[in-house]
Amino acid sequence: MNKLILISSVCILLSACGGGDDKKDNKTATTQKPVASASIDKKAAIEEAKKITKDFTTSLKTELKAAMKAGGPINALTVCNTKAMPITQEVAKKHKAQLNRVSLKNRNPANVPNFWQKAVLEDFDKRAAKGEDVVKMAYASVVENNGKKQLRFMKAMPTGDVCLTCHGEKIDGKVKAKLKELYPNDKATGYKKGQVRGAVVVVKDLN
Ligand code: HEC
Repeated sequence: MNKLILISSVCILLSACGGGDDKKDNKTATTQKPVASASIDKKAAIEEAKKITKDFTTSLKTELKAAMKAGGPINALTVCNTKAMPITQEVAKKHKAQLNRVSLKNRNPANVPNFWQKAVLEDFDKRAAKGEDVVKMAYASVVENNGKKQLRFMKAMPTGDVCLTCHGEKIDGKVKAKLKELYPNDKATGYKKGQVRGAVVVVKDLN
């Protein structure tokens, strides 16, 4: 009798761990259920992803502020153009995670979101339109990828006052000209303060 109960509870546990939800992730990135067995790992992994994001955005902002101070927006543009990607790679390597920035209206052609990132960004826009604070807006899910559990984490990047210089509605003529020269297919202008400019993406293996 005891054995039976044991076997059946093991089965329940196993089915809870089953990857049924993972396939769904391809289509409905924002509505999937979390993987039950990873709930404790997930909490720790989210905390780590938040730290990685903070490290990354601090590095970027420090660089941006220094460049603005040293030579104004044109200089800062050149710095963003040459340093943003190496900084991304450096922070990713340090934390052994995949790291990038994405936007529905990207400036850098390397920052186009993939299918699940696009779904999350669209959801962020909806949440912002309903009045949710963009500063705290985030997304996290655990998925199975090639037999490995993976955390997918995204943190919204709000458009602040300083961002409007290069991403806003009224951009100075010289800045505009430099942007056109560096990014002929730039989509990242016309933003208002408080809107979701894009997001940081952290993907980290859990096992
Ligand atoms: C001096 C001009 C300048 C300022 C100010 C600026 N950016 Fe950018 N931004 C750029 C450039 C140039 C790129 C493209 C190069 C890169 O970073 O990959 C970019 C890219 C981005 C991206 C990556 C997605 C994309 O469109 O390619 C995000 C997200 C972003 N900026 C957010 C912000 C936020 C948030 C602020 C304010 C805190 C800000 N930016 C301020 C010039 C600027």
